[in-house]
Amino acid sequence: MRTVRLRSAQWDAGAMMESLRPGDLSVDSARLSKLESFFWFDLCAEYDSQVLHAKLVEIGADWSQGFHEFERLWYRDEMNHYRGFRELYRGLFGVSDRQIDDRLARRTQTFQGLEGFLETELKALVLFSYDELATTLAYSRDRALYRELGSPRLLTFLRRLIRDESYHFQNAADLVRLRYLGRPTEVLGAIADCVRHDLEGHPYQGVFLFDHDWEEVPSAFFEDVGRRLARHWGLEGHVA
Ligand SMILES: [Fe+2]
Ligand SMILES: [Fe+2]
Repeated sequence: MRTVRLRSAQWDAGAMMESLRPGDLSVDSARLSKLESFFWFDLCAEYDSQVLHAKLVEIGADWSQGFHEFERLWYRDEMNHYRGFRELYRGLFGVSDRQIDDRLARRTQTFQGLEGFLETELKALVLFSYDELATTLAYSRDRALYRELGSPRLLTFLRRLIRDESYHFQNAADLVRLRYLGRPTEVLGAIADCVRHDLEGHPYQGVFLFDHDWEEVPSAFFEDVGRRLARHWGLEGHVA
């Protein structure tokens, strides 16, 4: 069976962020404390790959080997990102592992209303393409903030996140191209469903997907992600 060459890079984000301290940054403590919720959100979103992974093991048992090879690398990367954010957060905000674990455990996580996006391998791969492209673009928007913090180590961390998220997008999109572009109406319908869900402005549900209730994200962002995907697959001329 034909397959795709999966892009991936292995690195240790936890080791990279280990022992990062406020003194390594060029911002004062008032500015740093304003960023606590920003970094906590990213820590949680990466951590939440665990529940999505468990869900996919449960519902995707008869999906293709290519999907599972993609998912295995994706999950390895997201947990690596989580460990990086965890070290970063512990070091910059002076909290213990126990405090982080307790706070993570108190969150609500639910797939309610999202099951339809994972009904088939086609829908799941389109959702991964959409979500990972959105994440790539979102982390890219964070470049100015990371630069302001003045730590070369943090900037390298962000660059690697962006590269990995782009790899996740490209890998999922390649699998769609290989297996599902013969069904353009379904692919376009799945893209439209993703865009619509984001435009409806649902709060983040703690399961990795649609971690997009960032403040001040214009609706044009989500429409743009949808358009980019259709263009990426050469589907602009088709009607869903
Ligand atoms: Fe990630
Ligand atoms: Fe990702």
